Amino acid sequence: MRPISKKRKLVEQQERLHLAKRNFKRRFHTENIPWLRRIMRFLIRLFFVQAIGKKNAENLKLEKIQFSFPNLPEAFDNTRILLITDLHLDNTKDSEERLMKIVKNIDFDYCFLGGDYTNRWQENETAHISLTKITKELLKKSRVFGVLGNNDKYQIARTLARAGAEMLINEGLLIERNNDKIYLAGIDDCCEYYALADTKLANQNAEKNSFKIMLAHAPDKYREAENQGYDLYLTGHTHGGQICLPFGIAVITGTTVPRTMVKGKWNYHAMQGYTSRGAGTTNIKARYFCPPEITLITLRKTTAN
Ligand SMILES: [Fe+2]
Repeated sequence: MRPISKKRKLVEQQERLHLAKRNFKRRFHTENIPWLRRIMRFLIRLFFVQAIGKKNAENLKLEKIQFSFPNLPEAFDNTRILLITDLHLDNTKDSEERLMKIVKNIDFDYCFLGGDYTNRWQENETAHISLTKITKELLKKSRVFGVLGNNDKYQIARTLARAGAEMLINEGLLIERNNDKIYLAGIDDCCEYYALADTKLANQNAEKNSFKIMLAHAPDKYREAENQGYDLYLTGHTHGGQICLPFGIAVITGTTVPRTMVKGKWNYHAMQGYTSRGAGTTNIKARYFCPPEITLITLRKTTAN
């Protein structure tokens, strides 16, 4: 894991000052505006739907999806990746137990952690203890790789690394299986708060023509990843909207990417992608028409005709 950069250190020391200096577009994010949270809570109470939203937020689901690639190395055919993102552990009660209940009953080859482990302004010791426990449980099943999100201080990366996770902060590594290799890159927060993602740096150890996966907290770097020849982009951050209208139509997406990339599978030219709805909640402890998820992704090799 890279040591903390000077810029990240400065941002973490001057959180609110940093936020005040951001341009309006970056500053205007639901996670950065405390009064917006209060309004949302008030509206939910007003319409007596608080209990429903809370119950929805606790209904963690396992989504199973599959991606096919003609260039996937033979040894990685049928590889299963468990993607866990946006846990926001200190925002939803018993989230560790719910997660572990699902994890214990499934098998996977690698686990990817997509960031937003806690809430930025509420980071506490309990969340660090919980993260250590979760990581150690996951490590009983597979290697664990992680990135940081816009809500994560660097201390979270240290906690995860100490527990045994391989943290990728603007860096990448080769994963080997039999005689085949794939390249996995992870980037720092890409958009709304720290904005310290460096895809070039993350790509510098990639081998030419290798199969490449980008793990990023948010989908915003999809263009850069595609330009650098990534085959798969795995991400979260949007929470799928979290507060949605019927049929899952998001009211606020928290990102500038097209709505087709806000949740689920998507494509950008030759690159395929998946945006998880996330496992937790942000701002308010409720979800509507947008259940929380962790995702079991199977990689398949297609035979070229
Ligand atoms: Fe999040």
